[in-house]
Amino acid sequence: MTSSSAVREGADAAPGGNGAVPRHVAIIMDGNGRWAARRGLPRAAGHRAGAEAVRATLRAAAEAGVRVLTLYAFSSENWRRSEEEVTDLKGLLAFYVEKELETLHREGVRLKLIGDPSPFGPQLMQRLERAVDRTKDNDRLTLVVALNYGSRSEIASAARELAEEAAAGKRDLASIDEQAIGKALETADLPELDLLIRTSGEVRLSNFLLWQAAYAELLFVDTLWPDFDAAAFNSALAQFASRQRRFGGR
Ligand code: FPP
Repeated sequence: MTSSSAVREGADAAPGGNGAVPRHVAIIMDGNGRWAARRGLPRAAGHRAGAEAVRATLRAAAEAGVRVLTLYAFSSENWRRSEEEVTDLKGLLAFYVEKELETLHREGVRLKLIGDPSPFGPQLMQRLERAVDRTKDNDRLTLVVALNYGSRSEIASAARELAEEAAAGKRDLASIDEQAIGKALETADLPELDLLIRTSGEVRLSNFLLWQAAYAELLFVDTLWPDFDAAAFNSALAQFASRQRRFGGR
């Protein structure tokens, strides 16, 4: 057993499985558009229902003892969507942050952002920063929201930062190793990613947490994101607990 699995606390061991509650779960929330289309509704209605699923999942994660929940809310490729849809998503996010802030705070949730939310404009940025600041001392669960996030760009920034330090004589080239890169990523302060879930039947990572997912368990479920709820999340946790994790060992 590696040290990283040895430190995991959680459920009783299932026969043949790791039996643990994942400390860090990430979700690619996919299928809002299809959920809406099946009901003859506009895409915005799918995103609104998706925000409800966020609420249910966050609660289930906190109750299960998950420490970090990372959600892919807007990828750097999502700008290719229509202006109307981007505006809807921004509005929904602003509404959610404003409406949920006190509940998140009361429930001991710390909000953290990864990616570059600045193109969303100063108003939304201000709200997000206020929420991050208000919740910064909470420690029950960290909710990481990836906004205008792309994993390759995150890794490229880390490489640039380390190269600049080396060029300035502040770092030996030999010190640029896996650990140094991990520390230069936006997720440096978070535990290792244990479980990555994608909804809606699509089977790809779409430039999300590529480095961090190196040893994560991957779970692809057919459920469309707005239909994802506490039962679906708990079923994902049960599947995680039933898997054996070898981290490259035997
Ligand atoms: C994917 O469905 C979903 C998104 C791009 C946006 C996710 C955003 C939310 C759930 C809104 C609220 C978020 C937070 C953090 C409060 P899709 O539109 O790609 O669906 P499709 O593939 O069926 O078209």
